[in-house]
Parts: sequence; structure tokens; C-alpha cells
Amino acid sequence: MTSLDNEARDILRKNDRGGYTIPTNGLYPYQWNWDSVFAAWGFSTFDPARAWQELETLMAAQWEDGMVPHIIFHQSDPGYYPGPDVWATGQTPPTSGISQPPVAAIITRLMWEADKEAGRAHIKALYPSLKRWHRWWHDFRCTYGPAAITHPWESGRDNCPDWDKGMAGVDGSGVGEYQRRDTGHVDPSMRPGKDDYDRYIAMVQFGVKAGWDPERIVADGPFLMLDPGITFVLLRAHQDLIVLGQALGEDVSEIEGWALALRNALPLIWNPELQAYDAKNLRTGEFAGVLGSGAFLAYLADASNPELDAQLMRIWDAVRYGIPSADPEAAIFDPRRYWRGPCWPVINALIAIGLRDAGRLDLESRLRAETATLIEQHGFFEYFDPTDSTPCGGSNFTWTAAIWLTWAGDGRERAKGVA
Ligand code: GLC
Repeated sequence: MTSLDNEARDILRKNDRGGYTIPTNGLYPYQWNWDSVFAAWGFSTFDPARAWQELETLMAAQWEDGMVPHIIFHQSDPGYYPGPDVWATGQTPPTSGISQPPVAAIITRLMWEADKEAGRAHIKALYPSLKRWHRWWHDFRCTYGPAAITHPWESGRDNCPDWDKGMAGVDGSGVGEYQRRDTGHVDPSMRPGKDDYDRYIAMVQFGVKAGWDPERIVADGPFLMLDPGITFVLLRAHQDLIVLGQALGEDVSEIEGWALALRNALPLIWNPELQAYDAKNLRTGEFAGVLGSGAFLAYLADASNPELDAQLMRIWDAVRYGIPSADPEAAIFDPRRYWRGPCWPVINALIAIGLRDAGRLDLESRLRAETATLIEQHGFFEYFDPTDSTPCGGSNFTWTAAIWLTWAGDGRERAKGVA
């Protein structure tokens, strides 16, 4: 145990609101879907019971139709916009109306593998709701093959360049007056701009008008894009859910069918001009034409190839710390603006799972050492400038602390050259 380990545990405990963990105080005061799953992973290193509880409170917010929402508003907090009354989903507890990357089955498997005996009752309890959520993705978001998103926030990579073309087609001019809260917590130059925000709100307003009916939103909503990031997360999550189902003696053939369909659909998001996986605007049929970290989640789903390897090494070698969220050689690269260039420890950790599984240990340990360096130098920030390591966004961030405890913390010795 080092002082950073202690600090990381402390952050998780302080962000614990009783059964669920907030991403960071102030900026994100509710339970966020994938943040919560990473929190569970972090807790699993020192308090497994609390870790399982985190997953259970998340899955307890599942909708009738199987969706697990991206935010759960357990109590009201005026410091965040758009809050529960803007989303108006009519759920109890109130929630947002979109989902987020389905990392839950991936982390559930890792937690169960760490202690199969103690984990068995928990995976048994979680399995039916995880399966219903995966079915929701298959039925309502994979109708075009790869996974589609109906709002950039659904991707978890809010303002990444992947969505620029889809965003251009959204009319944000009629959203009315509102007051953002995020820019009161962190430097506005690190956050999405006002035009983006108007469009984000317009999409929420459409969802409300559609009564949050997923079929209507996919058919007529202002935004619909294929997301390589979610596609790879879901593919990996299907595979991990199959393993969990088999351990429980369940019939997993339906999930195998979803996984096969998704893998067979991957050529639809391969952009030959870019020589990489790419997002696609389903409203126009156009590729995004930009390289981002969503494409590199292919490693997580065992879907990389030599062309993608070449792109990965090019963008990684162009910066100093970790994998950038956008191509440093592209005009849109902005090293401190959220998902338009910065390095995110949480994405590095997901890519690392894939690298490790594929036996690419040299790359995995480089990524781990670079991520560890960022945290050692500056602490548990939301994300970092990959060119000079400047810490950005919120501090005392839950998922960065969790990633330290589960993965990056092991990079210290390596960074110092000790085995
Ligand atoms: C931002 C991130 C998203 C995350 C949330 C809470 O919206 O883009 O991925 O879940 O913050 O940390």
C-alpha cells in the first residue's frame, strides 16, 4: 500500500453516497452508469461487498424495456444541468433517457474471476438484468448492425470529433433559455461549447416529446450515428456475459447470436480511406472521417488488425502520455478539450484489457506506465493533456482512482524499471 493507494481509496469512500458513487463532487453529483461500474471495480480491490452493491444499485434503475440509464438522479442537486425535470422520463428514481457504454458485464466478469466462490451469488443475481440490458442494445440500438447512439452522451465520449457530422444536422436554435452548470465547476475552455450544448438539449427535448420511446427516437430523432466505441464494448460485454451464463449453467445461445451478429457487422464501420474503424452518420450514410479512441476499443473486442495497429502507434507516438482521444495530426485536435484530444485513464484501462488478453504485454505495460505517471505527477484528475501531462477537468475523480487501484498503480514499478 502506498500513499496513492490510500488516496485512491479515500476518493472512492468520499464519493460514496450510500450504495452508489458519484463521479466527482460538484461537476457530477449523481450516479453515472459506466463511472459507477468502474467505481465497483475499484471498490472490489478493498471492499468486495461494497463493490457488488454498486452494481446492484445501478442495475436496480433498469427500465421496463431493459435500458439501464446513463444517469440516476437519486436526490436532487441544483449544481447539475440538465437535471431530472429536463429529462422528464417519469421513472422512479428519476433517470436520464439514454444509456451509456455497457461495461457492466466486462467488470462483473473480472470481479467474479477474482473470487468465484463469493462472487457466484452476485453474478446469479445480476445475470438476468444484464441479459435484459444486452437484449435492449440488440433490439433497439443494433438494428443497423453495429451499435448506434441517439445522443453523443450515450457514447460516453461526449464531444469527440466522431459526432461532428451528426451534430451539424441537429437544430439547437429553438431550445430556449437555460443555464449551464458545468462551466461554473471547471474551466470553460475545457468543456464543450455553447452551440454543442444547445444541440445536446434539443436532443433531450426530442426524447421528451417522443415519450422516450426508443423506436421513435431511432426512426425520427435528430441524431443517429454508429459508434465504434459502444460496438466494441458491447461485443466484449456479450462475450463476458456468455462466460458468466455458462458458469451459471444458463442457455447462452441467444447471447451468442447477438455477439455473432455484431462481429459480422464490423465491416460496416471500417472506413477504408481512414484505414480504421470509424463512426457513421446514419442520417446521411457518411463516415465521420476522423480517428478517435472509440476505434481503439477494438482491442477490447479482439477486433484489431495490422492497419489499426499502425494507426494506434502513429497517434500514440505523436504524444507523450497515453492514448489521445483524437488524432494529434488532425486539425480538430485540441489537447485539453474533453474528448477532442486529451488522454483518459479509463479508456487506456479498457484498451489495456484487450492488449493483455492478446498477449501484447509490451504495449500494455507502456500504456500502464504512462497512465501511472500522469496520476503520480498530478493526482486523480478526470483526464489529462497527452502532450504535456497537464491535469484537466474535475479532481478527485472516482474512475481515475478506481483505475489506479485496479490497473495503473501496478505501473509504478515498471515506470521505474523494476519488475
Ligand atoms: C462526462 C463524460 C462521461 C462520464 C460523465 C461522468 O459526461 O463524457 O463519459 O460518464 O462525464 O463522469
